[in-house]
Amino acid sequence: MHLKDTNILLGVTGGIAAYKAPDLVRKLTAKGANVRVVLTDSATEFVSPLSLQAVSGHSVSNDLLDKDAEAAMGHIELAKWADKLLIAPATANFIAKLTHGLADDLLSTLCLATDAPIYLAPAMNQQMWHAKATQANLATLAKRDVTLLGPAQGEQACGDVGPGRMLEPQELADLLATPSSPQLLKGEKITITAGPTREEIDPVRYISNHSSGKMGYALAQAAKDLGAEVTLVSGPVNLPTPENINVIKVTSAEQMLNAVMKNIQDCNIFIGCAAVADYRVQQKVDQKIKKSDDELTLTFVKNPDILKEVANLSVPPFTVGFAAETQNLKEYALGKLQRKKLNMIAANDVSDTKIGFNSEQNALTVFWPKGELKLEVADKQLLAKQLMLLVEQRYTEQK
Ligand code: C5P
Repeated sequence: MHLKDTNILLGVTGGIAAYKAPDLVRKLTAKGANVRVVLTDSATEFVSPLSLQAVSGHSVSNDLLDKDAEAAMGHIELAKWADKLLIAPATANFIAKLTHGLADDLLSTLCLATDAPIYLAPAMNQQMWHAKATQANLATLAKRDVTLLGPAQGEQACGDVGPGRMLEPQELADLLATPSSPQLLKGEKITITAGPTREEIDPVRYISNHSSGKMGYALAQAAKDLGAEVTLVSGPVNLPTPENINVIKVTSAEQMLNAVMKNIQDCNIFIGCAAVADYRVQQKVDQKIKKSDDELTLTFVKNPDILKEVANLSVPPFTVGFAAETQNLKEYALGKLQRKKLNMIAANDVSDTKIGFNSEQNALTVFWPKGELKLEVADKQLLAKQLMLLVEQRYTEQK
């Protein structure tokens, strides 16, 4: 019960996902937390204060100017009571209010009045999530150490498909229960590759793969949270550039190799999470290939294996690889561990379309020369935290 005796103030704002709030309270209390709930006015349209009162065991606050509530536990007292403040669901409107420091209702006032860490579980339409204003607000909040939990990707209440679904209550409870990152990697330099690479065929075409970069970006964040100095060498992805991480954007495998090699000298840990294209076109052409013939033959040559080159340096960093497999997971992963001379390999089954490539979730089995550990299906942020802790353990043990 990792949240034992932790006081969690749950702020519920007015999105359709608010109907999950009672379940979220139950999942948090099951982990030992004391939960008090604050609703915004619009949240009361989606979820009943009475059901939240029943599951939390405390009266639910909504109004800043409610004399009775203020007499019971005033808003400043409530702000001081909280060890963690979780806003789930957090609407685009509430995120905007938080960014600008408004205090025109109880929840926004509490956010200003508390010194507890704030966690946001956004829930909104995918277009609203992608809106420049929302993204700019989130970037500002990240600088203030507000922690973002999610959102997940998928089908939305409005019928759209994309990012903006609130993480499930169990995932939120698990993420909150993960110990806040001790600075275990302070002073360590980590380089991580992420995303796909794009190999140009002609000025308008390329070959690539389905990697979204989410796992690599989550690992970079997890490493930064543990105090590491992080360099993220990223192929083309559609993800916001993380704060306080040195991001080097590349396109092709050769560019990725060059960027990695420039940064690897004083690096302690290297994690190859990118889905590097194994081959590139032998002869890039300067002009667009015309469709004159019925058949087109392209010759491909092998790309450099970045991970292998790093692991085979005369003084290699602690080197971690990934193995995306559709069968014989253990056998293939162990083969790669030995062949590439890695310290650790994280294998995942990409034949399961619910996890892995382009999905919000993943599951990994991690192998090292004398052991293995299964990390069950979870949101990539949570999985990244678990994997970074494991990397830190193994790295420290062999130092
Ligand atoms: O051999 P395979 O491509 O399956 O190995 C996967 C691992 O190797 C991943 O960690 C990936 O980032 C890395 N890799 C690489 N350069 C390549 C191919 C794979 O760094 N050209």
